[in-house]
Amino acid sequence: MPHIHLKKAWSMSENLATPESVYLRRREFLKGTALTTAATVGALYGCGPSSPPNVLPEVEWSELGKSIYPAKRNPNYELDRPMTPEKIASTYNNFYEFGADKIDPVHYAQKLKIRPWALDVGGLVNKPKTFDMDDLLKTMPFEERLYRLRCVEAWAMAVPWTGFPLKELLKQVEPKPEATHVRFETFYTPFTAQGQLAFWEPWPYVEGLTLKEAMNELTFLASGIYGHPLPKQHGAPIRLVVPWKYGFKSIKSIVKIDLVNYRPATFWNTLQGLEYDFTANVDPRIPHPRWPQIREKMIGTGNIHPTLLYNGYEKFVANLYL
Ligand code: MTE
Repeated sequence: MPHIHLKKAWSMSENLATPESVYLRRREFLKGTALTTAATVGALYGCGPSSPPNVLPEVEWSELGKSIYPAKRNPNYELDRPMTPEKIASTYNNFYEFGADKIDPVHYAQKLKIRPWALDVGGLVNKPKTFDMDDLLKTMPFEERLYRLRCVEAWAMAVPWTGFPLKELLKQVEPKPEATHVRFETFYTPFTAQGQLAFWEPWPYVEGLTLKEAMNELTFLASGIYGHPLPKQHGAPIRLVVPWKYGFKSIKSIVKIDLVNYRPATFWNTLQGLEYDFTANVDPRIPHPRWPQIREKMIGTGNIHPTLLYNGYEKFVANLYL
């Protein structure tokens, strides 16, 4: 596994996450200028931090939050390995709106304004609605779930999310019979999230699921983690968690959910369709061009595990793909 380094995960200064082909496309696009990707990111973010903060930034609590977190753990979702310590999971993030290095989001995402926050749910539904986040959270059945999250870069973590099944929200808006897919969209505020100033990338970040996948009991909208509200670097105030798919499907800081009757375009598939397919189920048999998928490394411990089909969630989702 040539790309797996066994030093402590949080000390990695890696830019593995920028797909080479994307890099090459950027270079093509920028041909004739003196810019390189690194220089551009440097220009957007300065030199960039190289270490995690000593103390994690405080999360924003609302009055309502005090009655939600910590939520009761649902025992149906068990881990087969130790939970990842919060200090590790919250300082090793992919959130390209706030930089290309894992250490960037904990520093730069703190600029994101998360209150008030509107979530627009519409498209092919009988009852489209723009929810104020706090009003929405008041109505939802909260629970804590221990899930593993597997990134296509072959690292994994195991964390306690707090939230509710996506299907509980979709039921409220009543999907029409002709809806086949669900499209998700992240905020677009390039002067706060300076990664979005990269005009050659298809911002805002968008993702999609089939409606059946969206209605599966595992598909979760998380507004909390480790028994408190989501920190901004994890996608506050609300993000998707789809544990049997590669982590890039788990879109952060969602502002819009649309029911549609076509397969929606997604951020990574638009950038590099040969490397990031729409379905993106965790599958050790399908090698990625740059990251072998047979094994995965837990961030923090560096422990290596064999990759499991559907990230080990086969009993919940195999029926979706018969
Ligand atoms: N959502 C947005 N809006 N922007 C992103 O860059 N990165 C994805 C996903 N959701 C991303 C995103 C990727 S590649 C991964 S692996 C997970 O978020 C990482 O989630 P975490 O940082 O909470 O571990």
